[in-house]
Amino acid sequence: MKPVSISDYRQAARRRLPRFLFEYIDGGSYSETTLKRNVADLEALAVRQRVLRNVSVIDTSATLFGAKAALPLALAPVGLSGLYGRRGEVQAARAAAASGVPFTLSTVSACSIEEVAAGASAPFWFQLYMIRDRAFMADLLARADEAGCSALVFTVDMPMPGARYRDYRSGLAGAPGLGGDLRRIFQAVQRPAWAWNVGLHGRPHTLGNVAPVLEGRSGIEDFFAWMGENFDPGVTWDDLDWVRTRWRKPMIIKGVLDPDDARQALDLGADGIVVSNHGGRQLDGALSTARALPAIAAAVDRRMPILADGGVRSGLDILRMLALGADGVMIGRAWAYALSAGGSAGVSRMLDMLKAEFRVAMGLAGVAAVSDIDVSLLA
Ligand code: FNR
Repeated sequence: MKPVSISDYRQAARRRLPRFLFEYIDGGSYSETTLKRNVADLEALAVRQRVLRNVSVIDTSATLFGAKAALPLALAPVGLSGLYGRRGEVQAARAAAASGVPFTLSTVSACSIEEVAAGASAPFWFQLYMIRDRAFMADLLARADEAGCSALVFTVDMPMPGARYRDYRSGLAGAPGLGGDLRRIFQAVQRPAWAWNVGLHGRPHTLGNVAPVLEGRSGIEDFFAWMGENFDPGVTWDDLDWVRTRWRKPMIIKGVLDPDDARQALDLGADGIVVSNHGGRQLDGALSTARALPAIAAAVDRRMPILADGGVRSGLDILRMLALGADGVMIGRAWAYALSAGGSAGVSRMLDMLKAEFRVAMGLAGVAAVSDIDVSLLA
């Protein structure tokens, strides 16, 4: 049966991926309180049903950082996507380009910036984590610029990683050496299509962008250890300036959940923010993004664009986030599930589905243009 909802894509991904990968995508940190809140708080928002408002022509398009997009939506950076499908980042970037929405390439991707640039037909965004080695960071920024990346998404909510219990239980984390390898191999052979297509032929362990500083380490455990050693917990607002002087195109700060931080980002020259708690994968117990967003939108007061992510699982959820004050949304797990389930075609179909759902949500709420979506749509 073809998936008709994001939850169908999730189930298809569960059937397709080895357990340790599905749990990595699906899980959140600690008790997963914030992960659950992201979904539940958005879902709990009632939308006003408005009638007889001529919705014969509905325009779902929006402008995101100077470029027209078919939807007020971008694919969020999702690390290790080259493990979910063969050369997964290229597949997702192609689908996003075909659907007319931006794709964001994670720092920690299997495919390098250059490989995605060669394979995708539209400019994409590049996501950066602050790594201790500033010369390497400067080099990454130059590579992204050279490859034509049209915006930088600078993620600031991971000075240190939150623990995800599911990753320990699946053997992805905390199982170094042969023991962990064997557990993952055992899970992989139970998914022969994945093992053949991605595991054996997809070169999933290449980690294109950070390969130069991994010093020959290639195991997944080595990679997480490297992240722990090299992500810079000493980063402060002063470092934004360092990034700003090396990146002249739009700079979007991702991982803002507090109005004070939003004001700070604005004061320091950010071109936009992503209201995000990393999909409930970092501070467990933090506010859901749906709850945090209105106060942030009030603080920003339309002086810069706001994207929001966390829990977006339908076209209706896009409308809800916009009604709360966002100019656009990012989706993370939704596209990771679709890529896992059906590669590039899966991501394309999922985006078509979100677009159709968003269109209907707009029509039934009585609005014909994205710019008409505001808080008055909520009951
Ligand atoms: C992420 N996220 C993320 N964010 C980021 O800035 N860089 C990254 O490399 C990653 N990696 C990553 C991997 C996986 C498997 C997930 C699920 C998420 C966070 C992501 O960009 C986004 O903020 C959330 O996924 C949004 O929540 P939803 O849409 O997944 O509910």
